Amino acid sequence: MTTRRSLLLGCGSYLPEQILTNAELSERIDTSDEWIVQRTGIRQRHVAGDGEFTSDLGLAAARDALKSAKLDAGDVDMIIVATTTPDNTFPATGTKIQAGLGVNHGAAFDIQAVCAGFVYALAVADNFIKSGQVDTALVIGAETFTRLLDWKDRSTCVLFGDGAGAVVLQGHDGNGSSTDYGVLSTHLHSDGRERDILYVDGGPSSTKTTGHVKMVGKEVYRHAISKLGNVIEEALGANGLGSEDVDWLVPHQANRRIIDGMANRMNLPAEKVVCCIDHHANTSAASVPLALTEAVRDGRIKRGDLVLMEAIGGGLAWGACLVRMGYPNGT
Ligand code: UT7
Repeated sequence: MTTRRSLLLGCGSYLPEQILTNAELSERIDTSDEWIVQRTGIRQRHVAGDGEFTSDLGLAAARDALKSAKLDAGDVDMIIVATTTPDNTFPATGTKIQAGLGVNHGAAFDIQAVCAGFVYALAVADNFIKSGQVDTALVIGAETFTRLLDWKDRSTCVLFGDGAGAVVLQGHDGNGSSTDYGVLSTHLHSDGRERDILYVDGGPSSTKTTGHVKMVGKEVYRHAISKLGNVIEEALGANGLGSEDVDWLVPHQANRRIIDGMANRMNLPAEKVVCCIDHHANTSAASVPLALTEAVRDGRIKRGDLVLMEAIGGGLAWGACLVRMGYPNGT
């Protein structure tokens, strides 16, 4: 019996040119490079330029991913963009990227699960592919998250950056075991009771404004440690795998201490954890595909490697997925 799987054929990323360092931030607000590095691991973040929108970042990452997958935009049946910072309230940023790619078939839409957005979008695309409705999907995480920041609030403005990452998924028949290539499983959760510990104080329906990020950092941290740990165990258990089977942990890049906590819980050595928070900061839905692309490009992650991705953010919403990279008989 065969099982439909979504192969991860390629990935790509884009970071805006402009870099904002901790030292520059400490000239504007009461903070220091030492505090930011010690508490978060962040040293710098990229910031989108004037007139540079989420769709521009997402389009660049999408083109990069298609190139690495050796596919044309015309091969794509579905485009899903995970973003909290759409160009406009509507239409979906996905449709703008679709037009930018010159595609006019299939469906393009956005998903809102904040920092867990990429894992959510990957799960949605995987389920469309598994059901046979879609053959090739482009999954993008793209954010101009700095546009939601109150630059006077030191408890949030030092944490985030802008960027985009993307992957190309394509249907393939596997044997249904954990040795298959592609997405082995996805696991999504949310708990709306915790929405007030991480939110934006604006929106089209409530204030008719965009609003700014508000966060009770310590509470989010506490939930992140327990919920991410649990969802990692759930993903491994669903596939009859243990931590020792994981080649790479590609976590959401929110805080170096949370990343280290997950690695410790899994007994994974630091060499098996992809951490780029120092130069990207937290790019919300873009963080996982940015980290994935970086480790694929520098040769750490290879075809056949088993990658565990996880993320948590506002909602609270969180999730994890296990993916065996590349495709059988590939290079
Ligand atoms: O991506 C979505 C998911 N987000 C997360 O996972 C974030 C989870 N939370 C965290 O990563 C951490 O809670 C933070 C990095 C946000 C904060 O670290 P913390 O160790 O929890 O610090 P804190 O909020 O308890 O603040 C400790 C102190 C406070 O001063 P007092 O009250 O002890 O005098 C803050 O006012 O640090 C102060 N502080 C700062 N100091 C210098 C807060 N922000 C800053 C700052 N620079 N930027």
